Amino acid sequence: MAFPVPPLLLLLLLTALLVIAVTRLWDYVLVRLVWRPYAITKGFREQGIHGPSYSFFKGCNEEIRIMKENTDGLVLDVGDHKYLPRIAPHYLKWRAQYGEPFLYWYGPQARICIFDYELARQILSSKSGHFVKNDAHPTLLALVGKGLGFMEGADWVRHRRVINPVFTIDKLKIVTETMLDFAQNMASELEAEASRNEKAETKVDINKHFSDLTVDNIAYAIFGNSYRLGKQVFEAQTEMLGITMATFLDVPIPGFKYLPTEANRRKWMLERKLKSLLRQIIQPRLASGEYGNDLLGVMLDSSTEAKQGRKQVDGLSLSMEEIIHECKLFFFAGHENTALLLTWSVYLLSIYPEWQERLRKEVFREFGREAPNPNALNKLKEMTMVLFETLRLYSPALFMQRKTLADMTVGSIKLPKGTAIVIPIPIMHRDKDAWGDDADEFNPMRFENGISGAAKVPHGLLAFSMGPRNCIGQNFSMLEAKSTLALMLQKFSFALSHDYIGFMWTMTAFD
Ligand code: HEM
Repeated sequence: MAFPVPPLLLLLLLTALLVIAVTRLWDYVLVRLVWRPYAITKGFREQGIHGPSYSFFKGCNEEIRIMKENTDGLVLDVGDHKYLPRIAPHYLKWRAQYGEPFLYWYGPQARICIFDYELARQILSSKSGHFVKNDAHPTLLALVGKGLGFMEGADWVRHRRVINPVFTIDKLKIVTETMLDFAQNMASELEAEASRNEKAETKVDINKHFSDLTVDNIAYAIFGNSYRLGKQVFEAQTEMLGITMATFLDVPIPGFKYLPTEANRRKWMLERKLKSLLRQIIQPRLASGEYGNDLLGVMLDSSTEAKQGRKQVDGLSLSMEEIIHECKLFFFAGHENTALLLTWSVYLLSIYPEWQERLRKEVFREFGREAPNPNALNKLKEMTMVLFETLRLYSPALFMQRKTLADMTVGSIKLPKGTAIVIPIPIMHRDKDAWGDDADEFNPMRFENGISGAAKVPHGLLAFSMGPRNCIGQNFSMLEAKSTLALMLQKFSFALSHDYIGFMWTMTAFD
């Protein structure tokens, strides 16, 4: 039976709701979208920091979109490594116009773009907890899950401690055996194609092959024997990536993610699919109590369910929801970057054949025609130098972002709470003061004495970041790249295809 609400109470209720709505709107429109941008711009101007002006709500997003559209089709000559105007035209233009650092606006969020290594070091290695990861776009979060890369404080420590053991060198050497098997399968496919040609040649889109290979590798590292089912997670993620990219420069509007737009409904459907696939993999393991020693197994072993009944609870447990987020994140973070590293390495080895030959000699010296030995991959010194130089010239990660949790001072810059800081990795990798006059050239010799001696600053190479939030998968990635390249060098010589567009290569199989 429904009770009638007295009219006065109803009136009070409606008035309260109206007051809340007006206060929220006031805060959002007037404070966040008008007053704060004005005050922040003024504060930075007084410090001598300038930048493009703020447009209501959109910030500089339209300007960025137009600049990117204009440079999208930019074609470079083979061997010209100056691709930055194509991928980061806005950073280059604003740096030339306003100096370093400069202020710009992503929607209503102030962003300071820094280029100085010492400032970057202070921010990335800070343990104060005052520089946190910047807010991720809601579509990106739906895609990759709120895992390790997006956590802070005690939650981040707990997750990193549970996951770290999977990435110890000893564990990784075991995983490398499987990486070599997958690489061998890829090589056999290419050899079979080449054998049908009288010159033993085959023309391939090598990036596609490396993409498939790195998906297999990360699927196996996370899901072990269930990796085939795990790969369907990847297919759903790839579709979601399309939606993410299309909305990347759209300013997130509060509440918009709940509206049943076509893109949102598609996103929700894919999210449900991702979850259900992951549950299909997880449930049988939980039921059998056989967790496995892959990443998922290690996380399940730590899970709250697994710990029930155990006497000691060590505070190192992940909930099922957290495990699902981590699977999504690791799948996303763990393949495309390495595929790019491999593709750009093969590109550079194709246009610098003397280095291709040097690396091949090194591989034959170490392994002869035998399958590369995971325990000896670290002896491939020249290959490591080439991989580092590839990461420097063609860093797969384009920038890192942090946000201040309180008013902070870095160097001489006063940053108000909530300011985002952008660290543009590939631009810093071309800094002539840090890397010398040949910063735009391919010169693996600069890494002859390792990373720390390569630049005039101690942490010049930022491809895997530095400090506590550095890339947890960097050793995994380097072993994956080394094992694949070693096998490819033993079996093929490679050159850019004559009608080279995008990523076409001619691979010639050795007999
Ligand atoms: C060439 C390959 C790779 C590159 C260039 C790369 C780059 C990076 C960078 C720059 C960061 C720091 C991001 C930031 O501070 O905002 C990072 C973090 C991370 N990477 Fe990688 N990555 C690679 C491979 C991998 C692989 C293979 C995995 C997993 C197996 C992985 C998992 C992660 C995770 C989970 C984080 C977040 C760590 C944390 O916040 O504690 N990455 N990566």
